Amino acid sequence: MIDVNALVAEDRVHRRLYTDPAVFEAEMERIFERTWVFVGHESEIAEPGDYKTTYIGRQPVILSRHSDGSIHVLMNRCMHRGALVCRAERGNSSVFRCMYHGWVYNSRGDLVGVPYPGGYGPDFDREALALPRAPRVASYRGFVFASLSPEGETLEEHLGKAKDYLDLILDAAPEGTVSVRSGVERYAFPANWKLQIENLLDGYHPNFTHQIAFEIAEDRRGTSGRKANTEGSGALSRSLGNGHGALDYSAINRGYRAGDAAFTRYRQSLEERLGPERAAAVLGADVQLFIFPNLFFQNARQHYRVVRPVAPDRTEVYAYPYTLDGAPEELNRRHVQGLSWWASPAAFGQPDDLEAFVRCQEGLQVTSAEWVLFARGLARQRVLPDGEVVGDVTDEVPQRGMYQAWKRWMADA
Ligand code: FES
Ligand SMILES: [Fe+2]
Repeated sequence: MIDVNALVAEDRVHRRLYTDPAVFEAEMERIFERTWVFVGHESEIAEPGDYKTTYIGRQPVILSRHSDGSIHVLMNRCMHRGALVCRAERGNSSVFRCMYHGWVYNSRGDLVGVPYPGGYGPDFDREALALPRAPRVASYRGFVFASLSPEGETLEEHLGKAKDYLDLILDAAPEGTVSVRSGVERYAFPANWKLQIENLLDGYHPNFTHQIAFEIAEDRRGTSGRKANTEGSGALSRSLGNGHGALDYSAINRGYRAGDAAFTRYRQSLEERLGPERAAAVLGADVQLFIFPNLFFQNARQHYRVVRPVAPDRTEVYAYPYTLDGAPEELNRRHVQGLSWWASPAAFGQPDDLEAFVRCQEGLQVTSAEWVLFARGLARQRVLPDGEVVGDVTDEVPQRGMYQAWKRWMADA
């Protein structure tokens, strides 16, 4: 029995959120198996027969495009004796053939082949043995989400205010869409998944955790993220409702968008499509956006990350660079490179964060101190008329919002 009211208060959460296997189990059931979970981008499965494998919480799924162009999220579990029917990360095939006894399913999950079928009686019901599907699948501007619950709020309701920020990020593409065609950076760490979520929205830590990386950046380029992540810099932390949040550096210029010839061409194409005012807002947007529970964008380094909880003390993260459809190739290349400088497994930034997560996971084994504090900026945060909460970039505003959503999902069993 998990008493969520005893585990989450407005300004703190209990150490058991990170260490207790029962809490992890409940998170998988009550959050990941009910809410909308990001599963992939349509451009990853552009052609009929394209597929990729991924997870909804602990459960393996296949995102596939059928011959008629429709998109399906199939549970990756053979209906015979339970083996994964597809182990490849991605590929193209009109069928999935289980390696164990050779049952064959098509890209919509129908069971289309059984070896030696005479061994089954006349009432063998192939139709009932299709791969189970996620009951709800929906896309927003090419981003595909699935829910294992047949009912609940729509994807657009779930995205809520995060949609405005997602639009701001995706409108940077002159054609209005992005493509995910530049591979994936992967890393894993032996600590709880929520440490990564908290960190993606944490403007308090960079000047300490990333001190050396900032020094190297200043040496090489003359600038770093140091100023932006200093209290009072003008950058903001935001809680957007439904657990979503953002760090918003738009009000200060971090200088990610250089004004060379390629940029001028690019700006013109955006102005043509969006008009000068919206184009200026889009070009000025410098946002780190988290969409609860597993998707994070950093538009300055043109990528998104998908967080996969594996166990209470084990997490995998997949970082996908994306390119802006219609933008000059050199501009896309420059921004995608920012990801490998900062967030690849051997980069200058992210590995320092991983060290912090591992230290937290170990420190949280201490039982005589029970609470993890998220009180920073509580007294000075502002609540806007639409419910959005805004604070200094160094304040723990998004984390508080995330844990209130966590608590709602976990309490509502
Ligand atoms: S487990 Fe898949 S065919 Fe037997
Ligand atoms: Fe960091």
